[in-house]
Amino acid sequence: MSIALNAQGLSKSFNGIKAADGVSVSVADGEFVSLIGANGAGKTTFINMVTGYVRPDVGSITSYGREIVGLSPLQVTRLGIYRSFQIPQVFTGLTLMENLTVAINAVTAHERPLLSPRKAALNPDSRDRVDAVMERFQLGKYRDHLVSEISGGMRKLLDVGMATINSPKVLMLDEPTSGVASEEKFDFMDLVIEALSDQKAAVLFVEHDMDIVRRYADRIVVFHEGRVLADDRPDAALAQEDVRRYVTGKA
Ligand SMILES: Nc1ncnc2c1ncn2[C@@H]1O[C@H](COP(=O)(O)OP(=O)(O)O)[C@@H](O)[C@H]1O
Ligand SMILES: [Mg+2]
Repeated sequence: MSIALNAQGLSKSFNGIKAADGVSVSVADGEFVSLIGANGAGKTTFINMVTGYVRPDVGSITSYGREIVGLSPLQVTRLGIYRSFQIPQVFTGLTLMENLTVAINAVTAHERPLLSPRKAALNPDSRDRVDAVMERFQLGKYRDHLVSEISGGMRKLLDVGMATINSPKVLMLDEPTSGVASEEKFDFMDLVIEALSDQKAAVLFVEHDMDIVRRYADRIVVFHEGRVLADDRPDAALAQEDVRRYVTGKA
């Protein structure tokens, strides 16, 4: 197994608040890792540092041995590291098809990738990838609908679809099930996991529902006040006393 992502000693302060305080996390090829922790614990900051949105004050992040600190979000993306957002970053005035076209062109087009998705001609390979994502995420029926016309749950699926369309090596999902009705969460995650199963990507996902975490994660990294409180198999991490006290709320 090679190391898809290796973060060592990451620290980041915002106006004196330590959002990250010596965070080290290493993830192998194909691993599914859940990031948990209370609001403000530093989960999104970690994702932002890995994906080039926030530069750590100190520390190193490598992906397959290559240092990525200092790269822009687009440069990080071009190395195969993708993300989705807690609030879907999709273009509501474009159709689903056009959104997926933008996601492809953002990494492959040489200039102005975000302009004129309607005019952008997709080559046959790209068309196949759009079709595959539509099918995997059960969005085909809405292909030519505007995003403004589809439900919040479908927008989350589209956002994850956009993050996966370029075959990520590392995929970071920030609260993929937030806003998804609790009775639909398992179906939603089944769809996402199934869609990723043939991709061999290392997947890190932020999740607050411990039933989801237990079902889908190989490992849990627990954040607390900018630090990693635990990093272990789900049962072992969730049994840890300080994790119960500070995070899952059970004494
Ligand atoms: N861009 C920012 N500017 C100022 N403070 C920030 C910024 N991003 C995060 N923080 C602060 O860093 C801490 C960790 O936030 P965050 O990483 O978003 O936590 P989580 O995703 O675990 O809820 C919080 O105190 C938050 O207010
Ligand atoms: Mg967050």
